[in-house]
Amino acid sequence: MNQTPLDWIEVELRELDAIGLRRRLATRTSSQAATITIDGRELINFGSNDYLGLAAEGVSDAVIEAIRTRGWGSGASSLVTGRGLLHAELETALAEFEATEAALLFPSGFAANVGAITSLAGKGDVIFSDAKNHASIIDGCRLSGARVQIYPHCDLDYLRMMLPQASAFRRRLIVTDGLFSMDGDLAPLCDLAALAEQYHAMLMVDEAHATGVFGDNGRGTVEHWGVEDSVHVRVGTLSKAAGSIGGFVAGSRLLIEWIANRARPYVFSTAPPEAIAAAGLAALTHIREEPHRRTELLSRAEKLRRRLIALGCDTGESASQIIPIIIGEPEATMRFTASLRESGLFVPGIRPPTVPDGESLLRISLSYAHTEAMLDALVEAIAGLLGAGEVNH
Ligand SMILES: Cc1ncc(COP(=O)(O)O)c(C=O)c1O
Repeated sequence: MNQTPLDWIEVELRELDAIGLRRRLATRTSSQAATITIDGRELINFGSNDYLGLAAEGVSDAVIEAIRTRGWGSGASSLVTGRGLLHAELETALAEFEATEAALLFPSGFAANVGAITSLAGKGDVIFSDAKNHASIIDGCRLSGARVQIYPHCDLDYLRMMLPQASAFRRRLIVTDGLFSMDGDLAPLCDLAALAEQYHAMLMVDEAHATGVFGDNGRGTVEHWGVEDSVHVRVGTLSKAAGSIGGFVAGSRLLIEWIANRARPYVFSTAPPEAIAAAGLAALTHIREEPHRRTELLSRAEKLRRRLIALGCDTGESASQIIPIIIGEPEATMRFTASLRESGLFVPGIRPPTVPDGESLLRISLSYAHTEAMLDALVEAIAGLLGAGEVNH
């Protein structure tokens, strides 16, 4: 038998299979929209983060026009060959939108989180990070070299206990998702802002799922809670409600200059194509001029959540367009997902390591593009499965 140094992979993949955690890449043959075709089957799509329904059409014309006038590739990092005109225009527009002094565009939200955290904290510093923060925050913390204190999800008492002991560290950073990506709940930003001020800590909020959705102007949870002036570092993405790709950091002029100098995913990575910046600019226009998209979305989410709770579903602490149905074990979760797919609905099952053991869930991601009929179909299918006892939750 020929042995190779990679033989262990097959063994490990089989082990993942045995515990229901092996993921397989499906192929979507349709474009991203409220209905998608995956592996030859048309499904109503409750899996995308295209919350405002902009991905399919809202930004494409701007991208095509930008490719015509500015070409495609950027060729190098912005620090080497300069930002493009459209990159600069988008960064100015993002700062205006966020009402901050400045903003910096990254290739992705993941890169923005890793870049911001590793620029702000290092050896001799301490980071307080919520246990349910996104993987990109976790990786940023790990890479930073700082001491990392993971605090139980939204547990302010824990922070009140730990922060007084943190004065010995050079700097303190508290970092949290504004809207948690799997549970759909909001971080207690008013209390976090007060604690940050009391203990002279930097406060960073990742608005990936809230930008364009929360706040009167769509600035996210910082605007929703009225703590814009107390949050020192804001990270956002253009990949979710903005229907495109790319991440950004917004804050003071000095903060942005520092991050542009220090963030390795910015310094050592090629700038995204300028057409991506054109998409971001188009999305910001939609977000500014069409507030009904976010207000409708949130009111439909509230109604859907009530209907699911009435069926007996556990939607946890969700208070947003992200509505989990908490199942527990991965196998049961994937059975539920498969049954919904049989009914023509795509609702992803989320398993470890994305969520902790025992907390597998169905993640319903609502979009402005969903029709009432689509929501009815979802509720009816879930009611049918629960009623038939086909899946217990
Ligand atoms: C909370 C959170 N932050 C950051 C990211 C990364 O954003 P992007 O997809 O733009 O890389 C995600 C993506 O899933 C996320 O959920």
